[in-house]
Amino acid sequence: MREEIAMEQRMDWWKDSLVYQIYPRSFQDSNGDGIGDINGIRQRLGYLKELGVDVIWLSPVYQSPNDDNGYDISDYQAIMEEFGTMEEFDLLLKEAHDLGMKLVMDLVVNHTSDEHPWFRESRKSRENPYRDYYVWKEPKTGLLDPEGGPGAPPNNWGSRFRGSAWEWDEATGMYYLHMFSKKQPDLNWENPKVRQEIYRMMSWWGKKGIDGFRMDVISMLSKNQDYPDGEIKDGNPYGDGLPYYANGPRIHEFLQEMNREVLSKFDWMTVGEGVGVGPGEALDYAGFQTNELNMMFHFEHVEISPGPYGKWNNNPADLVELKQVLSRWQTELEGKAWNSLFWENHDYPRAVSRFGSDDPKYRELSAKMLAICLYLMKGTPYVYQGQELGMINCPFTKLSDYRDIEIFRVYHEMVEEGDVPHEEMMTYIHHTGRDNARTPMQWDDSPCAGFTTGIPWIPVNPNYKEINGEEQQNRKDSVYWFYKNLFQFRKHSRVIKEGTYRLLLPDHPGIFAYERWREEEGLLVACNFTAQYQELPIPDLTEGKMILGNYGDGGDRKGLRAYEGIVWERQNPLAAGKSCSDSPSHP
Ligand code: NOJ
Repeated sequence: MREEIAMEQRMDWWKDSLVYQIYPRSFQDSNGDGIGDINGIRQRLGYLKELGVDVIWLSPVYQSPNDDNGYDISDYQAIMEEFGTMEEFDLLLKEAHDLGMKLVMDLVVNHTSDEHPWFRESRKSRENPYRDYYVWKEPKTGLLDPEGGPGAPPNNWGSRFRGSAWEWDEATGMYYLHMFSKKQPDLNWENPKVRQEIYRMMSWWGKKGIDGFRMDVISMLSKNQDYPDGEIKDGNPYGDGLPYYANGPRIHEFLQEMNREVLSKFDWMTVGEGVGVGPGEALDYAGFQTNELNMMFHFEHVEISPGPYGKWNNNPADLVELKQVLSRWQTELEGKAWNSLFWENHDYPRAVSRFGSDDPKYRELSAKMLAICLYLMKGTPYVYQGQELGMINCPFTKLSDYRDIEIFRVYHEMVEEGDVPHEEMMTYIHHTGRDNARTPMQWDDSPCAGFTTGIPWIPVNPNYKEINGEEQQNRKDSVYWFYKNLFQFRKHSRVIKEGTYRLLLPDHPGIFAYERWREEEGLLVACNFTAQYQELPIPDLTEGKMILGNYGDGGDRKGLRAYEGIVWERQNPLAAGKSCSDSPSHP
C-alpha cells in the first residue's frame, strides 16, 4: 500500500502534461495538394506552444496506401510521401524539442497494410518464411461461404469495420484474419520473430529521440488460439469475437516483454488504446505496479447510450450513465493507476455535438463547460485538434462527402444489404461517424479555413467563418482562451493533479457535480448539461471562492444557467471547525 502511494505521488512528466493529438491529414497543408503534411505541422508549432501543449501525439505518418488513413502501414520506418520526408520529420522532432514540447508517435502493430513487404511475402506460399507473420487458417469445410470462398471462414467473427474478419486468399487456398479492413491483415503475435521485428522498429524510433507511443488497439494483440465463434447479437449478422480477441491469454506476457526489451530503456510516455478494457483490466495494463504501460484509453464514456445498431445511433447521451462511467474510472484507478482524460479523438464525433449543444447560442458555453467537467478530474488531459476551438460535427448530407472506410462499409451492410433506410443511416453517420472529427482544422476565415490553398481531401466544415482559430485567438472570451487559461490553472493546482474525487448528485439528470480533495484543499465542480436553469441542491455554496466559470461572472450560487460550468473552492468541514456530521452528503 505504501509503495502504491509512493508511485502515485511520483510526478512522472507524462502525468503533468497536456497532450495534443494531431491528425496530420487534416491539420495543415503546406504544399497545396489538399492533404495536411509534416511541414504544415512545423508551421503550427508556435500555435501549440502558445496554447500550452507539452506533448504532441501524432496519428500515423508512416508509409501507407491509406485504406484507413495511415492506420494501414506498409513501411514502419518511412514517412508517407503525401506527408513529406524523413528529413522533414527529423526537423519536426527537433523543432518541437527546441520549443520544449515532446513528440509521441502512433504505434500500429496489431496489423500492417496488405502492401507491407511481410504480407506480400506471407501470401506467396504456405512455405514462405513470412507465412507465420500473419494469421492464416483453413476454411471450415462443408459450409457455404458468404464471401465466395470454397468453404466457410474459420469462425464467425465480424471485422470491426463490418463484414467478416476473414478474407479468402485464392493463391494459397486459405483465409487470413483482418480485424479491420481486408487491407489490414492482423499480425501473428504468437510468432516471436514478429515481436522481435516490432521491438527493433520501436527502438529505432526511440534512438531517433521520440518521446513515446500511443498504442493502437493494443488490447487486441493476443487472440484466443481456439478462435471460437462469437455470439450473434441483434443487428449484426456476424459473431462478436471481442471476448476472444481483446485482453487475450498472452497479452500481458507480450507487453511485459515489450517493456523489458524496449519501453524500460527510454524515458517515454506510453498510452494503450483499450478496446474492451474496463477499469479492472486497465489496472492490469497500466497499474503502478505492472511493468507494462503508463496509461490506457478507454471508450466507455464516448460510447454511452448505444442503440440497436450499437455505435450507429442518434441517441442523446444519457448524463447519469456518463457520470457513472467517468466516476468509476476516477475511483477505481485512484492510487493504483493513472487516467487519460479525453472527449475527442479521430474516431469519435465532436464533443460539443455529442455532449453539449451545436446551437450557436450555446456552442461556446457548452464547449467550455465540457472542458471544466473533464479536465478538473484526475489524469493526463488530451485535446484533439480543433476541440480547443469548439469545432462541431460536419453537416454533410451526401454520402459522397464522407471519406472514412468504416462509414462506407457500415452503409453498405446496413443500407444496401440490410434494411435501414438511407435517411436514417445518414442521421447515424452525422451523429457518430468518424469523419466528424476529420474535417480540416479551421485556422482562419480565408478560403478552406487556411488549411490548404488547394482542394481539401475532405470538405471543410462550412462553419469556418464563425469557428476558426484566428478569430478566437483575437477574442479573449473565446473557447481557445478558455482552454489556454484552464490548462494554465490546472498546471498550478495540486488538488487537480493529486486530489481524490467524489461524485455528487449521482442521479441528477442534468447536473454533473463532483468534489476534489487534497488534504485541506478542496474544489467543487458543477456543470449543467442542459439548456434549462437547474437548481443546485448542494449546501454551503456561499462559503467557497469561485475559481473558474464559463459565464464570466460569479453565478447565483443557487443554481446553474444553461450549460453553465463553475468551480468553487470547497471548505474542508473539519478544517473550518465543523463536525463530520456537517460534511456535505450525497443528496
Ligand atoms: C484504432 C484507430 O484509432 C482507428 O482510427 C483505426 O481505424 C483502427 N484502430 C485500426 O488501426
